[in-house]
Amino acid sequence: MKVLVVGKGGREHAIVKAISLSKQVDKLYCAPGNPGMSNIATLVPIQETDITNLVEFAKREKIDLTVVGPEASLALGIVDAFKKENLNIFGPTKEATQIESSKEFAKKIMKKYHIPTANYESFNSFDNADQYLKKAKYPIVIKFDGLAAGKGVIIANNYEEANKAIEDIFINKVFGDGNIIIEEFLEGPEFSLMAFVGNNKVYPMVLAQDHKRAYDHDLGPNTGGMGAYSPVDFITDEDINYAIEKIMKPTINGLWQEGIHYEGVLYGGLMKTKDGIKVIEFNARFGDPETEVVLPRLTSDIVSIFMGISSNNHNFDVKWANEKTVGVVLASKGYPGKYQSGFLIEGLDKVDALVYHMGTKLINNNYYTNGGRVLFVVAKGKTIDKALEKVYQEINKIHCDNLYYRTDIAYQALSTKRGEKND
Ligand code: AMP
Ligand code: GLY
Repeated sequence: MKVLVVGKGGREHAIVKAISLSKQVDKLYCAPGNPGMSNIATLVPIQETDITNLVEFAKREKIDLTVVGPEASLALGIVDAFKKENLNIFGPTKEATQIESSKEFAKKIMKKYHIPTANYESFNSFDNADQYLKKAKYPIVIKFDGLAAGKGVIIANNYEEANKAIEDIFINKVFGDGNIIIEEFLEGPEFSLMAFVGNNKVYPMVLAQDHKRAYDHDLGPNTGGMGAYSPVDFITDEDINYAIEKIMKPTINGLWQEGIHYEGVLYGGLMKTKDGIKVIEFNARFGDPETEVVLPRLTSDIVSIFMGISSNNHNFDVKWANEKTVGVVLASKGYPGKYQSGFLIEGLDKVDALVYHMGTKLINNNYYTNGGRVLFVVAKGKTIDKALEKVYQEINKIHCDNLYYRTDIAYQALSTKRGEKND
């Protein structure tokens, strides 16, 4: 079988790695991919948003299965374009991707099908939003309705901050044209539940938690994710069951009733509040960096899952190892603000852990930094504590003048265990 993965980050590196373990695969491509995966996949120099050329490539090479990583490709309608040409592809259509690309669409579905989430109102003008904000309770959450590279969510602590946010959105148009939703501020630990979905059926993956803030103790600006781990032990089996039965399944079934037959991965960004588990956001794809800590725990053949779902023959297993994973991102100093690239990375060959490349460049057999988030190192262990010890031990072998990382990844998982025996 010939398989193509679309995307170029750490998430796609993890998807490529999982696919490379399948005995069914003879030839594996990634477009555009990254140099860290070039030992297991052939890199194809076509950008993830160049749908026309991706279709052409898949036709020419007779690709049997295409798997899509990034939201940008999905929101552009890559799945519709492939299906129109009778090419087999795993991912949601453009219409179904609205569960991520339009916050208002997602909220409407949640309201109609009684999925627990923060209360909200939508606004399409500065004046209406401003009126509402004058009388609102704080903190409050303002969300730009569209893809804003993770930056479209503002938590305003008072009217002045809220007013500044809507001025930026409606008047300065910092995210381009679009509306907003304003929603109730929720509190509690967050976690991510991803599921394989097809034919109105939901196959949950194991849980993960990511760390969005740049610095230790969850301080500093929001990033694309500075680390992740799996599983998330402070979320009980009862919570997980609730999240599957009352959130993931009814959302997919609600979409089904709307005539949208969701196929692909549904990502639930969930929060355990004092009033129960609630949805913070849905994504229409594998999460990043969650995928990099979740897929190494999959013991079933991922290609059988993708093929089974896309051919409507659900004759596959979705099994997970008991092993725990902890992953730490090595980012360029300055990220998520301004940073420099082009620094030599040494010692990678000595690392005894999974190393996913997020932003590197290969020149004359040497890797150099080439992005904000550069590497994601993931270790496995019998316990979270052991995986954690291992990941930091292995990171010490990597030398580069311009990288930093958080030293407290998985702290919530450890503090609940402190003093207990967890072997
Ligand atoms: P989102 O892009 O919707 O996931 O939002 C980014 C981050 O903002 C989330 O991971 C939360 O930490 C925070 N956030 C979003 N919505 C809320 C909310 N209603 N209450 C509290 N925090 C929120
Ligand atoms: N980790 C959050 C995301 O993938 O959007």
